[in-house]
Amino acid sequence: MKTVHTIQELRNEVHRQRMAGKRIGFVPTMGNLHAGHITLITEGLKQADIMVSSVFVNPTQFGPGEDFDSYPRTLEADAAKLEAAGCHLLFAPPVTEMYPGDQDKWAKVVVTEITDRHCGAARPGHFDGVSTVVSKLFNIVKPDVALFGKKDFQQLAVIRRMTAALCFDVEIVGVDTVREANGLAMSSRNGYLTEDEKQRGATLYQCLCAAKQEIQQGNHDYSAIAEQANEKLAAAGFAPEYFSVCRADTLEPAGPDDKDLVILAAARMGQARLIDNIDFTL
Ligand code: PAF
Repeated sequence: MKTVHTIQELRNEVHRQRMAGKRIGFVPTMGNLHAGHITLITEGLKQADIMVSSVFVNPTQFGPGEDFDSYPRTLEADAAKLEAAGCHLLFAPPVTEMYPGDQDKWAKVVVTEITDRHCGAARPGHFDGVSTVVSKLFNIVKPDVALFGKKDFQQLAVIRRMTAALCFDVEIVGVDTVREANGLAMSSRNGYLTEDEKQRGATLYQCLCAAKQEIQQGNHDYSAIAEQANEKLAAAGFAPEYFSVCRADTLEPAGPDDKDLVILAAARMGQARLIDNIDFTL
């Protein structure tokens, strides 16, 4: 695997592969890689000849007081994991390469409506930062296919909308969440949890599964289901942020006639803010 740090080097490498007729796959990351990221590479290799990944802790998607400074930077270990997974090219730019000068203030990509609720409401400006950096990365890499984890369900929905609305010529693939043995969704931020918190953290997925089961059994009182889940989460030591039964396409609150559903949840445990979800069709 080759590692490059500048946009020009990356473009040269990808151009060479494209001229050789290769299909390019792309997995953007912020590093501190876990099995969930590696699954994205493995899935990508089934759909593309050459896999490109980026490791870039993107400052514009962190709000004031969030963990940009303390976010784990583990480039050497990440490169080793990507190489072992069969990734061909790693793009690891410094912030000055992605946002030279005041460039972060000149322009940004804003996806409307679907960003208003859930994580968008809890983290103002977060999705503007995500869609801006992903647009830049799409323009730099020009992938044929890009893969994102379904754990960040709202992020995936935002990226799908951005890709359609801005006519990016890339196929977006969502990949199922990889979980610890107890059900806790893998996340780079799980490193903020103590062992005891990791055990109790599994309650988030248990609540999602229990809510799905109730809905499948015919309970459409979604606010009561959410209230019940929030009580269970609080009892396990979480500070619940949202637990919401939504339409899977728009992420708006679901009604009793909606069939394609996703339950989105976020809750704080110790130093970590955990998100998870479950999607299903009635
Ligand atoms: O999901 C992430 O790790 C980030 O939000 C992404 C998509 C790499 C953009 O910085």
